[in-house]
Amino acid sequence: MTESTATELKQPPKVSGEKPDSGHMEEFNVNFARFLMRCNAECGELAEFNMGGQQTILMSGPEAQEAFLKTLDKKLSRAASYKATVPVFGEGVIFDAPPDRMKTQLKIQVDALRYQNMKNYASVIAEEVEQWVSGWGDEGELDFVDEFIQLTLHTACHCLLGKDFRERMTEEFKNLYHDLEKGLQAIAFVDPYMQQPVFEARDAARARLQELISEIIADRRANSDVEYGDALETFMSGTYKDSTHLTDNEVTGLVIATMFAGHHTSSGTAAWALIEFAKNPEYTAEVLEELTELFKDGQELTFEALREIPKLERFVEEVLRLHPPLILLMRQLLEDVDYNGTLLEAGKTVAISTYGSHRNPGYFPDPEVFNPHREKPDTLWAYIPFGGGPHKCAGNAFAMMQLKSIFAALLPRYDFELVDAPEAYDDDLSAMVLKPTSPSRIRYKRRK
Ligand code: HEM
Repeated sequence: MTESTATELKQPPKVSGEKPDSGHMEEFNVNFARFLMRCNAECGELAEFNMGGQQTILMSGPEAQEAFLKTLDKKLSRAASYKATVPVFGEGVIFDAPPDRMKTQLKIQVDALRYQNMKNYASVIAEEVEQWVSGWGDEGELDFVDEFIQLTLHTACHCLLGKDFRERMTEEFKNLYHDLEKGLQAIAFVDPYMQQPVFEARDAARARLQELISEIIADRRANSDVEYGDALETFMSGTYKDSTHLTDNEVTGLVIATMFAGHHTSSGTAAWALIEFAKNPEYTAEVLEELTELFKDGQELTFEALREIPKLERFVEEVLRLHPPLILLMRQLLEDVDYNGTLLEAGKTVAISTYGSHRNPGYFPDPEVFNPHREKPDTLWAYIPFGGGPHKCAGNAFAMMQLKSIFAALLPRYDFELVDAPEAYDDDLSAMVLKPTSPSRIRYKRRK
C-alpha cells in the first residue's frame, strides 16, 4: 500500500442493499460471517459497506490480507477500532498507551506467553485437565461449550496469576470477570462511556480487580526471592526504556487483556475440536493411533504437549480453518492509502475476514468439508486464524500447546459421540468470538 493524492484513484466498489439510516447493519447483525462472504462475492477484493454510518472496506484474498496485516500502525490504527477495550483494560494500557509504552507492554506480554514460562504452563494445564476429568466416571453427557469455558478460565487464571490465586479463585473473581466481559458488548463499540448500568458494573469490576491483583503484587514484592514461573511474574519484572516498572494499573490491564485475548478463543476452538472429533471417527482414529504411539513408554503429557504431534496439530489447524474464533479483524485508516489504484480513504475502517478467507475454494477446494489431509495453500496469507505480520497472535504457541494438552489427555481415555443430529452443531455468531451453538451436547464413554 502506498500513500497517494486522492484525485486520480478509483473508489472501492459499494455493496448493494444499503438502507438509508442503518446502512448494512441489519444484515450484518443477522449473520456477519455470511454477510462478509456476500460482500466479497459481489464486489471482489475490495468491498465497501456501511456499518451504521462507519464506512468499512472489506479486503479479501491473500494479497489484500497480507497488505492489511503487514501495514504498520502508522497508517492503520487498531486503537480507534478497539476503543471499547480502554475502560476494560484500563487507562494507559495497550491501545490507550502512547506508542512506545504500548510497544513495551506488548513485548512484555509476548515474553510472558512465549518463552520462559511455557514448560510451567504445560504442567499447569495438564494438572487442570486431570482435575476436570477426575469426576467424569465411565460415561456421561455434557454441554462442552460451557465445560471448555470453565476449563480455560481455570487454566488462564492459573497460568496468569499463579497457583495461590487459582486455588483461592472465588465466586467474586468470576463475577468481576463476567462484569468486565459484559462491558464489551456491541454497544460499547459505539460509545463505551455512555451512562448504562452495564458500564457502571464494568468500571466497579475493573477497580476491584485491581485491588485484588495489587494485593498479590504487594505480597510478591515482599517475598522477592520466590520464583513463580507465571505471567504475573513476567509482567512485574518487565521495564520500560527508562528502567521503570509497569504500574499496578498497567499490570492489571495486561492480565485482563491477556485473559480476554486467550479465553474464549481457546474455549471455542476446543469445543469445536471435540465436535469434529465426534463427527469424524476415521480422522480421530488416526490421531488416537499417533497418541498411543507417543505415550507407549509412559511419557509425561507435560513434556509431550510441547513437542510436535503432527496429526493432532493438522486436525486442530483444520478446526481453526472452518471455525476461526476471530472472524473479523479491523483497523482504522489514519491517512489516505493507494491500494493498487484504489483509494482507501482516511477515517474509513478496513477489515479482513478469516472466515471468508478460509472458505475461498481457490485455496481450499470443497471448503465446507472437514479434511485435515487437505494441502496447505502456497501462500501464507490465505490461512490466517492467528492473523499475521507485526500483530500476529502473541498466544499462538500457548493456544496450540493447550489444545494439544487437552486432547492428548482426553482422546486416549474416552470415546466421544454427538448426542444430536450433526446439523444441530453450528457456528454461533452472536458474540464477538465464534463458538459452537449452545448446548453442544456430546456423549463420552471410557475406552476399554
Ligand atoms: C485458538 C486460539 C486463538 C486464536 C485463534 C487467536 C487469534 C488471534 C488473532 C487473529 C489475533 C490478531 C488480531 C488482530 O490482528 O487484530 C490475535 C492477537 C492476540 N492474541 Fe490470540 N488467539 C488465540 C489464542 C490466544 C491466547 C491463548 C492468548 C494468550 C494467552 C492470545 C493472546 C493474543 C494477544 C496478546 C494478541 C495481540 C497481539 C498484538 O497486538 O501484538 N491469543 N489472536
